[in-house]
Amino acid sequence: MKKTCGRICLGLCLALFVTVLGGCGKKAEQPMESKLLLGFSQIGAESAWRIGNTRDIEEQAENYAVSLMLENANQKQENQIAAIRRFIAYKVDVIAFSPIVEEGWDNVLLEAKDAGIPVILVDRDISTEKEGLTACVIGADFYQEGVMAAEYLIRKADRMELEHVNIVEITGTENSTPMLQRQAGFMDTIADDPRMTVLESIDGDFLKSRGAECMRALLEAYGDQIDVVYSHNDEMTLGALPEIEKAGYEPGRNVIIISIDAGQKAIDVLKEGKINCVVECTPKLGKELMETALKLKKGESVDAVIHPEEHFFSDEMDPSKIAPRGY
Ligand code: AHR
Repeated sequence: MKKTCGRICLGLCLALFVTVLGGCGKKAEQPMESKLLLGFSQIGAESAWRIGNTRDIEEQAENYAVSLMLENANQKQENQIAAIRRFIAYKVDVIAFSPIVEEGWDNVLLEAKDAGIPVILVDRDISTEKEGLTACVIGADFYQEGVMAAEYLIRKADRMELEHVNIVEITGTENSTPMLQRQAGFMDTIADDPRMTVLESIDGDFLKSRGAECMRALLEAYGDQIDVVYSHNDEMTLGALPEIEKAGYEPGRNVIIISIDAGQKAIDVLKEGKINCVVECTPKLGKELMETALKLKKGESVDAVIHPEEHFFSDEMDPSKIAPRGY
């Protein structure tokens, strides 16, 4: 709530400043009139991706003259539910949030619906039996990201003429959309390839520290049987890499490393040859969010699902051509 208070206080100070100058007969520059009040509940700050996503939403709110009430839930669903209730009480025009997990939102979303406030899902989706709780979802096609990761692996196995490929998977937060979909896309794509065996999938919660812990446990259990690490985000990959090196292996050379997000740090490591493939997941969803929220305020219809375009980067291409990532 820190930022929200900051914004509200700043607004009050500006209003006071304008009023005071007005009383002195001087003309003050009017602050840009806000077109909309948007309440946004962010998951937390677990990754460079998430921090980049928050920054982008703040910047785009300014660009579109949207007043943003931003709350950080510190990785807790109950904090997100409480934030949404505060947005309802505050009578914001539109609510947006990135659901940490898919289940458990029906009650609070029914309250938003009863209050007549449209809800936009940002980045992640929810799972519900109820109709019409949300207006749309703006976020990546996580299934396709898993498909791209697996297709890269199949090409790599062909090039290296591998007969058996043993994979360990470090997954994101259990029951979150990216975890479920990145796993499904990957597993469906390797399913018909008899070379591929998944030794274990382990929950790394999208955190660097957990990525390291998971990798230590996997190395202890499987050692040199591991041919591939498929990690659901860069943060966990960056945690896992030093553990692989400490155990005496060379990531990118004798262990194939596949990551998702494509933040700058991972791209730098790809350039060093320690990551083989990194699938892009863009955090830059702010522009689409502001445009969609403004449409909803005007009562216009919006697309139910909005996916940004995404690509991948790998050792199949010239890494010097990769433009700075911005997150
Ligand atoms: O939901 C998007 C995922 O969440 C990103 O891959 C990850 O880095 C973030 O924390």
